Amino acid sequence: MDAMTFVLFGATGDLAKRKIIPALYSLYVDQKLPPSFSFIGVSITELSDEEFHEHIEQSVHTFSEGGSNDFSKVKEFLPSIRYCKLDVTNEGEYKKLLKLIQLREEELNIPENRMFYMSVAPTFFDVIALNIKKSGLGSTKGWKRLIIEKPFGHDLKSAQELNEKLSTTFQEEEIYRIDHYLGKPMVQNLEALEFANPIFQTLWNNQHIANIQITASETVGVEKRASYYDKAGAIRDMFQNHMMQLLMMSSMHLPKRITAADIRNEKKKIIESVRPLKKEDVHSDVIRGQYGPGEIDGKSVIGYIEEPGIAPSSKNDTFVAVRLWIDDPFWKGVPFYIRTGKRMKNKSTRIVIEFKNHLKELYVNQNEEPTPNLLIIGINPNEGVSLQLNSKNPLKDGKIEPINIEFSADQDDVPKAYELLLIDAFEGDATFFAHWTEVELSWKWVQPILEAFDENLVPLHIYPTGSYGPDASHRLLEEDGFGWWLDK
Ligand code: BG6
Repeated sequence: MDAMTFVLFGATGDLAKRKIIPALYSLYVDQKLPPSFSFIGVSITELSDEEFHEHIEQSVHTFSEGGSNDFSKVKEFLPSIRYCKLDVTNEGEYKKLLKLIQLREEELNIPENRMFYMSVAPTFFDVIALNIKKSGLGSTKGWKRLIIEKPFGHDLKSAQELNEKLSTTFQEEEIYRIDHYLGKPMVQNLEALEFANPIFQTLWNNQHIANIQITASETVGVEKRASYYDKAGAIRDMFQNHMMQLLMMSSMHLPKRITAADIRNEKKKIIESVRPLKKEDVHSDVIRGQYGPGEIDGKSVIGYIEEPGIAPSSKNDTFVAVRLWIDDPFWKGVPFYIRTGKRMKNKSTRIVIEFKNHLKELYVNQNEEPTPNLLIIGINPNEGVSLQLNSKNPLKDGKIEPINIEFSADQDDVPKAYELLLIDAFEGDATFFAHWTEVELSWKWVQPILEAFDENLVPLHIYPTGSYGPDASHRLLEEDGFGWWLDK
């Protein structure tokens, strides 16, 4: 791994504190950072290096998770870290940052490899990129890379505008768009699960698969993000990015070689084959929901429109369920059901692959009828794979019953999404980052849904907090003779 400077914009913000700093520390402990690593935190707050170091220590102690963290090394980690107070909108101030970067490059005798991480509000993305260019920060003799967090635009047009602005400073190969779902170990494992197992590879198509269900349910509500979330809704916050990525990752076909470029190409083919929706027809395939009051773990919880910062008249979606079709020879005729929502019964991200039940007709006795084979891929919070098969139960007169073969990873040992993604970006491997084509094509696909929601062409179903979402979301599957496989 190359020696480098890591510049973190938004270094005192929430994401930095909760995810990025603990991930960097964990990589340090596991000796996965480059041997010469200069880390510069940037933010508008006035802080000395020592005060920033205190902030780092606090963040590591409060938010580190998993087994690999050993707090005794925090003090050892600090000397590589400096702080720079900067108003990111003021071009003149970037000279100060450039000087600090150069000074550290000299002190550590490292090449001008610079990684810029934008952990800031999206309104600053383009201005920071522009100022990196104007101030000379981006004119390096080594490489430069940009890591950028979502939201990448608010709709198709704004995403295209943002991309155009970023591309005046960074080439596409230099931009690493984080979709933290792509950093989840089981999502990264999907490729191997399908491609390294001939039994699944053979079955991964419309001859054997009846339907695929992708769910990301959460128990949390809007939290303290009312001003962002009320404009974004589940469709922008989760569906356009994370859920579309899960769709692409679970349905792409075996590339001839498995390189970043091949995988991107296969993902692109999938998203281009997703049957487009017309705004007027959105209501047939999309269910929009909003959480009402209810209970979680026996405690009563307020509904969305009673949340602080949310207008009582808000029609924002906190739940969406979508039925879609991939019109290519592998998937023709296989429905994909995708749903995501807040304040649901449990926290669970998983993919259920329901296989066709060819044997159903052979069983005359309904008691004997086998249930469909299911392959369940647990992504979050429990990572694992389970395969549901049918077997005779000798204790029940040989009655056929489903049995589960399960593998689950030891959660403490599983590296966290940000650690995996940071290592990839440091190594220049973009496989698990969202390419512009994917982002643009998913906005394009989602655009009619955004418009149909805006124009109220789709009913808003209120579902009780603590439920599996609106009853209407079951209709999508019942129409095709299926039902959601619930994570109980
Ligand atoms: C984020 C969304 O991208 O993902 C949040 O902005 C959501 O609203 C979160 O809660 C869910 O991530 P995870 O990893 O907990 O499933």
